[in-house]
Amino acid sequence: MRTQLPVNLHEYEPLARQNMSAMAWDYLAGGSGDERTLAWNRERLDATRLWPHVLRDVSHVDTSLTLLGHELPFPVLLAPTGFHRLFHPEGELATARGAGSVGALYTLSTAATTSLEDIAAMASAPIWFQMYVQRDRGFTLELLRRAERAGCSAIMFTVDTPVLGARDRDQRSGLELPPGIELANLRELRAREPDAPTFVHGSHNPFLDPSLTWDALSWLVGETKLPVIVKGVLRSDDALMAIERGAAAIAVSNHGGRNLDTVPASIDALPRVADAVNRRVPVLFDGGVRRGVDVVKALARGASAVMLGRPYLWGLGTAGADGVARVVRLLVNELEMAMAQCGVAKLSEITSALLFEDDARP
Ligand code: FNR
Repeated sequence: MRTQLPVNLHEYEPLARQNMSAMAWDYLAGGSGDERTLAWNRERLDATRLWPHVLRDVSHVDTSLTLLGHELPFPVLLAPTGFHRLFHPEGELATARGAGSVGALYTLSTAATTSLEDIAAMASAPIWFQMYVQRDRGFTLELLRRAERAGCSAIMFTVDTPVLGARDRDQRSGLELPPGIELANLRELRAREPDAPTFVHGSHNPFLDPSLTWDALSWLVGETKLPVIVKGVLRSDDALMAIERGAAAIAVSNHGGRNLDTVPASIDALPRVADAVNRRVPVLFDGGVRRGVDVVKALARGASAVMLGRPYLWGLGTAGADGVARVVRLLVNELEMAMAQCGVAKLSEITSALLFEDDARP
């Protein structure tokens, strides 16, 4: 039977675009600078070739895993992204509902346009909180306590954003939150700087702290019993430092090509970090995941799970909670097919032996 619904993640992109303002679209889709890293994230995943085994029993493909204490049905999580009410009137509430309906773990962003309490109340799958540590540590601590009280089960500390990247598209569009949409978790900070734009294209941003050092990680780890995931690591020396300072997991990410342009594709940065970490803590991965085969490639390069950014926002913009749920379901279905065709029945069987390198034998 023919279906009118998108059959893959890419097909959601034009549908979402039709449903939102040009300003919202540019914010969602854009990268920084000349968008080289944004393009590389996809190109380098595409250029990674799989090398399957045949004649292995794949009648039961199991995508489940245990991650930081959670039994998860599949290794696909929703990455933290800001401003969901720019993409759909129900914003983060629809995201949480869609994620919950398929059992996907969702990391809500400090830059959410709905309060973290309301998002967490809507969640029926595990929920994590992404933290932008603020200049005001008292305020940051209160944010942490709110996330703990609301039931978030991990803190994802984003460390790749001392300042924003050169987001030319947003500068051109004059990106601002329209009246009635606010940074709901930063209300108190906002009240102190009523005239500051939401988005600052320069080295001073009232909602970021460029003075952060590794001590901020030690501070955060010392203040909470929750696991702290360090997001935005591209180097093995930084990953090792993060573990030394108490990180419970590392997220290899270049922020979807939105911060420092011309850093390597995430998939190229991943193996060195994963090798150095050597399974002491889980390594998460994001940047360009659009297909089930991309998930296999990331796991083969050493990730425990991947995070999805833009594609679930395409689902959100197209069809709210249902769109988010369907994007995840499509990807997981592709993952199951890819695993079966690679001859692997469970995630632990996905290793670098499944990747075709030019000098590979046999
Ligand atoms: C992001 N990202 C992000 N990261 C973060 O730590 N805090 C945030 O608030 C945001 N906000 C945000 C908004 C939008 C619109 C996008 C597209 C991305 C980065 C995000 O967590 C993730 O690293 C990338 O989106 C992954 O790449 P893909 O899947 O979008 O290619």
